[in-house]
Amino acid sequence: MSSIRVLAVTSEIYPIIKTGGLADVAGALPGALTEHGIATRTLVPGYPAVLAALPQAETLLQWPEFYGGPIRLLAGHHASLDLLALDAPHLYARPGNPYVGPDGRDWPDNGIRFAALSRMAAEIGVGAIPSFVPDIVHAHDWQAGLAPAHLYYGRRPRPGTVMTVHNLAYQGQFSPEMLAGFGLPPEAYALHGVEYYGTISFLKAGLQYADRITTVSPTYAQEIQTDDGGMGLGGLLRERTGVLSGILNGIDIAVWNPETDSTIASRFGAGDLTARAANKVALQRQFGLDAAPDTLLLGVISRLSWQKGLDLLLDNISTILGQGMQFALLGSGDADLQDRYRATAEANPGRIGVKIGYDETLAHLIQAGSDALIVPSRFEPCGLTQLCALRYGAVPIVSRVGGLEDTVVDFEGTPLSGDAATGFKFGPVTSDDLGRALRRAAIAYHDKQAWRTLQQNGMSTDVSWRNRAGRYAALYREIARR
Ligand code: ADP
Ligand code: GLC
Repeated sequence: MSSIRVLAVTSEIYPIIKTGGLADVAGALPGALTEHGIATRTLVPGYPAVLAALPQAETLLQWPEFYGGPIRLLAGHHASLDLLALDAPHLYARPGNPYVGPDGRDWPDNGIRFAALSRMAAEIGVGAIPSFVPDIVHAHDWQAGLAPAHLYYGRRPRPGTVMTVHNLAYQGQFSPEMLAGFGLPPEAYALHGVEYYGTISFLKAGLQYADRITTVSPTYAQEIQTDDGGMGLGGLLRERTGVLSGILNGIDIAVWNPETDSTIASRFGAGDLTARAANKVALQRQFGLDAAPDTLLLGVISRLSWQKGLDLLLDNISTILGQGMQFALLGSGDADLQDRYRATAEANPGRIGVKIGYDETLAHLIQAGSDALIVPSRFEPCGLTQLCALRYGAVPIVSRVGGLEDTVVDFEGTPLSGDAATGFKFGPVTSDDLGRALRRAAIAYHDKQAWRTLQQNGMSTDVSWRNRAGRYAALYREIARR
């Protein structure tokens, strides 16, 4: 099996810079691909956090002018990641969130910032680093979307291209006057090009020009080809259905391992679920909840955005209280949701606990200590928190959309012996249907044996990257053979 060289292009990578699941995927997939004979280097913007993570970096290229200023291309390793960093101080020397400035708004030059990233990917694709000429350029999300376009219009021979959609809701739209500034030829501004309702769309560019399109679950791959789920790109995706596939995400089972996790209060395995109880105690204490070992404790770890459907959970507070459950939420995002959750916690001390913020250690404790994890998303390309929940024995309660539909097996209220159920699913995504799922969970929780079976089924589900990475490997080989 000959080795294939892949250049992955992403604006986030765990554990260095992360706003969501994209970072987790970009951070874990390369390691899993190694076992399938794929050597990945990952190109990322040289944000301050990235440069700090690569103190020994080697300078591979140095150009006096690239999209408005001097740049260097750096190479270095961080843990097992083989990284290339585009060090462009005029574009990326800004601490904090990679997209948003201190005023809470998108940086006005985001178009140029990510056009430059994509262009560097294309330059590497056609040989800018002679020691690493990739067979495949794999672009992740809109920030890398122009890479397939640059390669399409650039020199030959070129590598094969893959565009992966992690979230169709973020499309990267910019003014058409920017076309030349982005480095694209005039003919690219066309219906079958980057043009999108009078703007330039980076995501559309990737979807239009890439040799293959993937998204992060089979169900989401179907949903995005509909008018509703397509978010304006459904027509294009239907046209390209022959090159579109859904490959489920995995999680890094070394980072998420309840048997070795040093951040939780008590380590445990599927055969030893009693050791889990100490985590529930710690979680109740951290969230100011009443110490109550037999109360069904619901957890949430999420961005607070419309996508995640957490307003539907606010509609169900009376169900949670009426069924005698507790609830702990960790999240940040929309100011309105943050305020409403804070107020709900204040009004229900001991029963509802809310922490607004981003806290990885606490996320692990919620997975280890809650009885059930709720993900009531309106749409969910894959979702990673339900995968972590399965691994940690927190029973997922999820909406029937995207990757949630594909990764949780519903408990239909049937006797569980020999059954493979791992959680509770509801649909359509309404407050009422979520309420019904919560009540079903409350009933099942009283049956200790049934609940333990749900937990054990979840914990024996394969949520790793091992086999899923193989699907990417097969795709790369198929394109590289062309
Ligand atoms: P999305 O990428 O849409 O936000 P995913 O479920 O794919 O959703 O990934 C979210 C990732 O971010 C998970 O690793 C989850 O644990 C983490 N996460 C989300 N919110 C928080 C938070 N407030 N604190 C810590 N981790 C969080
Ligand atoms: C996006 C999606 C999420 C997915 C993640 C990683 O942020 O919202 O569903 O799990 O990307 O692919």
